[in-house]
Amino acid sequence: MPAIAIIGAQWGDEGKGKATDLLGSSVDYVVKFNGGNNAGHTVVIPQPDGSTEKFALHLLPSGILTPGCTPVIGNGVVVDLGVLFEEIEGLEARGIDTSDLKLSANAHVIASYNRELDKVTERFLGARRIGTTGRGIGPTYADKMNRIGIRVQDLFDESILRGKVEGALELKNQILTKVYNRRGFTVDAIVEELLSYAERVRPYVCDTALLLHEALLAEKTVLLEAGQATLLDVDHGTYPFVTSSSATAGGASTGSGIAPARLTQIVGIVKAYTTRVGEGPFPTELDGGPEDPAGHGEFLRKQGHEYGTTTGRPRRCGWYDSVVARYAARVNGVTDFVLTKLDVLTGLEQVPICVAYDVDGVRHDEMPVSQSDFHHATPVYEYLPGWWEDISGARTFEELPAAARAYVERCEELSGSRISVIGVGPGRHETVVRHPLI
Ligand code: IMP
Repeated sequence: MPAIAIIGAQWGDEGKGKATDLLGSSVDYVVKFNGGNNAGHTVVIPQPDGSTEKFALHLLPSGILTPGCTPVIGNGVVVDLGVLFEEIEGLEARGIDTSDLKLSANAHVIASYNRELDKVTERFLGARRIGTTGRGIGPTYADKMNRIGIRVQDLFDESILRGKVEGALELKNQILTKVYNRRGFTVDAIVEELLSYAERVRPYVCDTALLLHEALLAEKTVLLEAGQATLLDVDHGTYPFVTSSSATAGGASTGSGIAPARLTQIVGIVKAYTTRVGEGPFPTELDGGPEDPAGHGEFLRKQGHEYGTTTGRPRRCGWYDSVVARYAARVNGVTDFVLTKLDVLTGLEQVPICVAYDVDGVRHDEMPVSQSDFHHATPVYEYLPGWWEDISGARTFEELPAAARAYVERCEELSGSRISVIGVGPGRHETVVRHPLI
């Protein structure tokens, strides 16, 4: 009954798809347990004529493409129903059967007023903005905590739905009109919009926590796929520059209803360097300024194609930060790391690894306790020799150049858990497996 959680160990976009691909056909259920359509992964769909077609998914779990695997959207997710059906229709049009999808009756729904509020709040915040994806994620989770949220199951009882929308709009319309000087929403328009999805969504809805419990009892393999990442987690991330959900291993349990002790393996995904989108502190960032005279930030962005799948925004890039990796190993209980995109570092004379921070002359080997210290943290680097060889053909650790091996081994020593898999290229099979994940 393995329940394996895949967690981003940095600020997101670490390439979780690599680990999912590796587990492939051995997985019976793939569960999305947090976030919504703020995430994004590109999937490659083989066509009958032998060509391939790329498709960007934001909400559906990647398991939707694996025959025999049941994709599950758990209770911890916030669902934009318009996006859900856009993705379902997009896949159906390409001949992908989506009828196995399971959606938690307890998942919350992103209503139009929350998309609007996300955007206007960011504009209003100006220099203090978070840099959200503008998809309504934060306001929808805020409603959940405020107990004025709309859940998937509310779509099946019009009078309950209407009452809840009325309650929410009483507050939301005041904020939209009086604080932000925008137009409010009518109860009828929101109810009508949500009800328009009710019958289409009904076949997918069930008690997903019970379903997963029974699957584990039946010795099935369940993969829990986190959206976002540890440093974007609302509790353990760089608050307030975080998303609004629990993106860590604890969230895998609350967001799916699988009891914590049933999680058998926690796979942390870590890029061989670091990226971040949106605002917030990032100690090893290389932004082309005086600390980056050689333009290594741009080098990493170009080599690694670091542009967002959801928003297209260029990602901020920097060196590997082992303080962050160690922290992620600790708060998630990482059993195995997957180190992705090692090939992007090929061609550098030296490869720096951040081993600690300096905060006003004091060395910190762990994440500083206070936000202001983290904002002032400057990296303490160790410099390792680089390599020039093309490593994309390597399939065993021994086939990597000695300098690349030394880099991985030093990252492993510093990061608090073993590095079991190494990504050496964008392709599915461009992977070095040191220890099989299952
Ligand atoms: P929100 O999730 O749209 O509220 O955005 C909050 C923060 O999380 C922003 O800095 C976003 O850029 C970041 N974020 C949200 N989703 C992702 C993701 O999938 N990858 C990387 N960053 C993300």
